[in-house]
Amino acid sequence: MGSNISINILGIETSCDETAAAVVCNGCLVRSNIIASQIAVHQPYGGVVPEIASRQHLEAIIPVVEQALAAAGCSFEEIDAIAVTEGPGLVGALLVGVSYAKALALAINKPLLGVHHWQGHLAAVFLEHSPEYPFLALLVSGSHSGLVEVKSDSSSRLLGQSLDDAAGEAFDKIARALGLGYPGGPALEQAAEGGNKDYYAFPRAWLSEGSWDFSFSGLKSAVLNYLNRRKMLGNPCQKEEICHLAASAQEAIVEVLAVKAAAAAKTLGYNTIVVAGGVAANQRLRRLLLERGPDLAILWPSQIYCTDNAAMIAAAAYSRFCRGERDDLGLNANPRLGFYKA
Ligand code: KG4
Ligand code: ZN
Repeated sequence: MGSNISINILGIETSCDETAAAVVCNGCLVRSNIIASQIAVHQPYGGVVPEIASRQHLEAIIPVVEQALAAAGCSFEEIDAIAVTEGPGLVGALLVGVSYAKALALAINKPLLGVHHWQGHLAAVFLEHSPEYPFLALLVSGSHSGLVEVKSDSSSRLLGQSLDDAAGEAFDKIARALGLGYPGGPALEQAAEGGNKDYYAFPRAWLSEGSWDFSFSGLKSAVLNYLNRRKMLGNPCQKEEICHLAASAQEAIVEVLAVKAAAAAKTLGYNTIVVAGGVAANQRLRRLLLERGPDLAILWPSQIYCTDNAAMIAAAAYSRFCRGERDDLGLNANPRLGFYKA
């Protein structure tokens, strides 16, 4: 593919609670990036309600795609391919994006590419950086946590993953227990800013020597036990102490992530770590990674590309498009797609 050719891919993402569409040129130049967040709709329930998410995606998908094209100054004719998240995620939510993308591909006669949500998160870093292969990736979101050796744009190996709660899930559940609301990650990080990370030594699950897996469910139980004990003693935690607990719990999550990622890089001889997924937005995680891996190049996407967006989906499809890969209209939503398929 000649370098003077511009390939514009329309990305569509509807795997959870964001309806997103973006136009990305040549896998890295973001021409538009539109995200319709459903946070306000799910907030009263303290988490994402799948049925409501699907209905919201249905209402938002057409205007969001239209806005993405308008903001990019691009017509349907100028689009070279349509990329859509095929999974993993909420089945009803995924189905809206996949059905829309298939119908559009048929209507405007353009190629279709189904994208693994996780390859999207990983591709997000290429929107702003150019890491050289191979590198180590720490993928941390609300549904997965894992360490992956990324050998090329089509080859990778999962080293370890969460055995129970994902890192973002731990943030969300602990934030909920502390009364900090939804979405829990940013709320807990904000509360932690006013707290002391050394206030309480919550447990860290290091697991066996040489294991690159994670486990966060014990930490969640420890926080719940602490809060319940205090309630039973007739002395429930007040606002200032909640901030200390938030800081201590955040430290227990991000310390394990940072220490294990830096140790894996050292053991396996990688000098670059790419951090991706919603939890990569966490400033304390970023600081600790820099502390733990002072000799490593540590790259993460900007905040807006850490959490769910469609620019990352379009970026992930670019190399596959260039290799001539295409999906047909048999493409279907795959809510249980494995952690990493490459
Ligand atoms: O990647 P993402 O948007 O969706 C999934 O693919 O799951 O990640 C969402 C997760 C949520 O669990 C959210 O609480 C967490 O990322 N998150 C954060 C922060 N921002 C989002 N966790 C910690 N600190 C943050 N600043
Ligand atoms: Zn995600």
